[in-house]
Amino acid sequence: MSWIVLSILVIFLFSFVRGDLTAALTETAKLSSQVKCHEEAATLIRVLRDSRTVPVAAASVNGVLKPVGEYSSRLDINSSGVFLKDVNYNDNGHYEFLCSGTLVRIIRLEVLVISDISASEGNTVKLPCFTVTLGEPVESVQWETKGKPVIRVERSNQMVEYGERFKDRVSLSPDWDVLGDLSLILERAQLEDQGDYFCYVLKGSQERGDPAAGRLKVHQMHVETSTTPSNTKDSCSE
Ligand SMILES: *[C@@H]1O[C@H](CO)[C@@H](O)[C@H](O)[C@H]1NC(C)=O
Repeated sequence: MSWIVLSILVIFLFSFVRGDLTAALTETAKLSSQVKCHEEAATLIRVLRDSRTVPVAAASVNGVLKPVGEYSSRLDINSSGVFLKDVNYNDNGHYEFLCSGTLVRIIRLEVLVISDISASEGNTVKLPCFTVTLGEPVESVQWETKGKPVIRVERSNQMVEYGERFKDRVSLSPDWDVLGDLSLILERAQLEDQGDYFCYVLKGSQERGDPAAGRLKVHQMHVETSTTPSNTKDSCSE
């Protein structure tokens, strides 16, 4: 009886975990938490589109996972996880954690090019995101910032959910589905809105794909301290 429970546990532990993550160009990506392989040797490999594999890290003599080859200078492995530094566009793709050749974790890294967008406090700003929707229906669109949802739009029932601070301030273009324009329209920009915004598109495959990202900077509206008298009071008189 107990060995059945045990084997189910083992199967559960060894059935691989899929991790999808995104990282911005030049930033550090946490590829994974530390993977413990018990007695077996751990390896981390990169699987290229043409199915070739590139070793990323391997267990050294004392069993500690160490970066190898070209990753020696860019991979940090410590108690908090496995980190890939100075991410470049070619880091896009699949990584696999193996315990003695058995797949335990697949990591899909998506590298994002973040465009800089600036807005003045109180104004409306648009953060771009596009995808093909013709013949490839989008099930939902989700914008996130600081790991939290900004807006989520479901195509099927036209349901819209908003993130806490964004209710009544964010929207997508009304015909986003026709135009493939999933850009985020943010009204009354606030200083606290500053940060990185990620657009995720969910299509039939249930995978979060085609991400786009924008780094929003909000400029404070301030009265210039100058020696000349301000004309702002007269601006409405004409
Ligand atoms: C592990 O390495 C990462 C990336 O260099 C770093 O940000 C993090 O602080 C390190 N953690 C520990 C516990 O050393």
